[in-house]
Amino acid sequence: MSSNDISSVLTENRRFDPPADFVSQARIKAADLEALVKQAEQDYEGFWADQAKQHVNWKQPFSTILNADNAPHYRWFEDGVLNVSYNCIDRHLAEKADKTAIIFEGEQGDVTHISYQQLHDEVCRLANGLKSLGIGKGDRVIIYMPMTAQAVIAMQACARIGAIHSVVFGGFSAESLRDRIADASATALITADGGNRGAKVVELKSAADKALEERCDSIEHVVVLKRTGHDINIQAGRDVWWHDLVAGQASECEPEWVEAEHPLFLLYTSGSTGKPKGIQHSSAGYLLSAIQTNLWVFDLKDDDIFWCTADVGWITGHTYVAYGPLAVGATTVIYEGAPVVPDAGRFWKICQDHKVTVFYTAPTAIRALMKFGDDYPSSYDLSSIRLLGTVGEPINPEAWMWYHRVIGRERCPIVDTWWQTETGANMITPLPGVTSTKPGSCTLALPGIAADVVNEAGESITEANKGGYLVIKKPWPSMLRTIWGDDQRYVDTYFPKFDGKYYLCGDSARKDEDGYYWIMGRIDDVVNISGHRLGTMEVESSLVAHDKVVEAAVVSRPHDVKGEAIVAFVICKDERPVGADAETMVQELRNWVGEQIGAIAKPDDIRFAEGLPKTRSGKIMRRLLRTIARGEEITSDTSTLENEQVVLQLQGKA
Ligand code: WTA
Repeated sequence: MSSNDISSVLTENRRFDPPADFVSQARIKAADLEALVKQAEQDYEGFWADQAKQHVNWKQPFSTILNADNAPHYRWFEDGVLNVSYNCIDRHLAEKADKTAIIFEGEQGDVTHISYQQLHDEVCRLANGLKSLGIGKGDRVIIYMPMTAQAVIAMQACARIGAIHSVVFGGFSAESLRDRIADASATALITADGGNRGAKVVELKSAADKALEERCDSIEHVVVLKRTGHDINIQAGRDVWWHDLVAGQASECEPEWVEAEHPLFLLYTSGSTGKPKGIQHSSAGYLLSAIQTNLWVFDLKDDDIFWCTADVGWITGHTYVAYGPLAVGATTVIYEGAPVVPDAGRFWKICQDHKVTVFYTAPTAIRALMKFGDDYPSSYDLSSIRLLGTVGEPINPEAWMWYHRVIGRERCPIVDTWWQTETGANMITPLPGVTSTKPGSCTLALPGIAADVVNEAGESITEANKGGYLVIKKPWPSMLRTIWGDDQRYVDTYFPKFDGKYYLCGDSARKDEDGYYWIMGRIDDVVNISGHRLGTMEVESSLVAHDKVVEAAVVSRPHDVKGEAIVAFVICKDERPVGADAETMVQELRNWVGEQIGAIAKPDDIRFAEGLPKTRSGKIMRRLLRTIARGEEITSDTSTLENEQVVLQLQGKA
C-alpha cells in the first residue's frame, strides 16, 4: 500500500473551513458535535438509545438496546415495534400533508410533484393491491424499475406491509435479475414496461420475462407499471398492470407493525467471489441512521430540496432518496434519465428548475461533467445550492476543486461521505457546519461510529499516513445483519480477522496527522467502476461461461472518468484469435458480459493469449496482470513462468 504518493502529500495542505453563514444555521455545530462525541465515548449504548428515542417513532418502545449474545449477529432495540413507511410518511401528515415529498422529472422532461398526502394514498393503494395478491410480512418482493417516483412508492408499499424488498438496478441484465430472484426466493416482481435512459427505451419487462424463464418458480405475481407505453408481453394469470391492481383500492392501509429487527430489505452487492451477496438490513437500526445522517450530514431542514442522483438500485438511492429524506420530512428529487440528455447541462438545469438546495452525486459523474467544461454549469442559476456531497469512491482533488469552484461557487461545503451497502448509512464524513475539509479525504467518523485503521495484528496504527485495514470496532445500528440465507458467509466475509471482534470493511485506509481518513482502495478482488462495486470474479465467471472461452482473469486499471476500468485476459478454446478475428471476439465477449451481468461490467479492454501467467503452485499472477493492464514496466521476476511468451502476448507485443 503506497500511501505517500506526491499528489496526496500536496493536497493535504489545502483546507477549507465551513463558510460562516453555513455554520450559523447548521443543525450540528461544533459544540453539539463535541457533546455527541463525548456521550458516545462515555456511554455508547446510552448514546444510541437516546438517538433512537429522539428520531424514530415507535409503536411500542424498546427496553433493550444492544443484544450481542450471538455476536457478530447483533440485534438492536429488539423489543421495539415500528413501521418504516409510517415513519417516512404518516407521521408528517398532521403538519405537512400538502408539502411536496417527491419531485419527479422524466428524461423527456415530464415533471410531477407528489405531496406527502398523495404519497401516502399511492403507497396505501399499492400496499392494499399487494395484499390482495396475498403478499405479506416477510415475503420477498423484487423491484426492477426505472428511476421513477413509483420505484419509491413500491419500496414504501413493501415496507408498509412488512414485505422485504430487494431492488435490482434496472441496468442489470435478465441473468443478474434471475440470480437475485432465485437467491431471495421472491414471490413477486414489480417492474415496468420500460424506462427512458440515454434517449432510448430500457426494455425492463422483456428482460424480466427472460429472467423468469428459468429458476424463478417462486414468482407468483408480476406487477407492471406502464411507463413508456410500448408493446410488451402480458402473461395472463401471472402479470397484472400496476394501474389495474391499484384501481379501486382504499387509500388507507394500516401499517404492519414489525419488530425492530424485521428485515426491511435485501440489496445484492459484489464481493470477492462470483456470487453476489444479499445484504440484509433491519427496520429500526437502518431507519435510525438514515434519519440521523440526513439531518446531520445533509443538514436537511423543512425547506430543503434534496437531490441525490443515485438510482434506487444502489444503497445510496435507498438511504438518500427513498427512505432518509422522507423520514425527515424533506423534499426528494428523482430524475429518471442520463446526465447528458439532451446535453451535459441537464443536471444543472434540474438543480435550477427545482431549486435544489442539497446536491449529492458520485465522483465519476463529476469527472464526466467536468470534461464538458464550465460553460454548462455557468449558464444555469445554481444559487439555491447550499451543500454538496460525494460518495462511492475516492474523489480526486482536481474533481473536488472543480465541484467546489464551479458548482458550489466557492460558498458550499462539500461532504465526502465514506460508507458501504453494508453500513447502511454514512460513516466517515465531514459534518458540513463543523469539519474543515481537505480535498480527497472523507475526514472523520461520525459520533457513535468506532472506525479505526489497524495493522495485521489488529492494533491501531498511530503513525500518521501509514496504511492499514479500515475497521469498525463496535457494532452500530444500521450495520447489515447477515447475508441472506448464508450466516456463515456473513461471518467469514466481515469478521474473518481480529478474533471476529472488528467489522472488516474491505478497504484500506490511512489517517493523516489530523486523524483524517484517506481511503486507499480495496483489499479484496472488488473493483469500483463508476462508483459501482463489481467483483472481478463475477466478470471472470461470466467470461468462462462463454462456450469459446476456457480461462479468464480480470483486473482493473485507473480510468479518468470511471475511476477504474476493467481489463480482461482471456484464453480461448480454439486458437488464440488475432487481427480481425480478435476484434470480432472482443465484441462478442463484451456483448456477452453485458447480457450476463449488465452494461457496467463490459470490459474496456480484452486481450487474448495462449495461457495466463501463473506461479509454480498454479496461482494466477494478478499483480503482474495489473502491471500489464496499466501498461507499466514489468519489474517482477518472470523467469519462473512456464511460458514467457504469454506475457508478450498479453502486452500486445506478440
Ligand atoms: C468505496 C456505496 C472513498 C469504498 C455507498 C467502499 C468510497 C465502497 C467512498 C462501497 C468515499 C464509498 N471515498 N471510497 N467517500 N464511498 N467508497 O457498497 O471502497 O456501493 O467500500 O456503497 O465504495 O460501495 P457500495
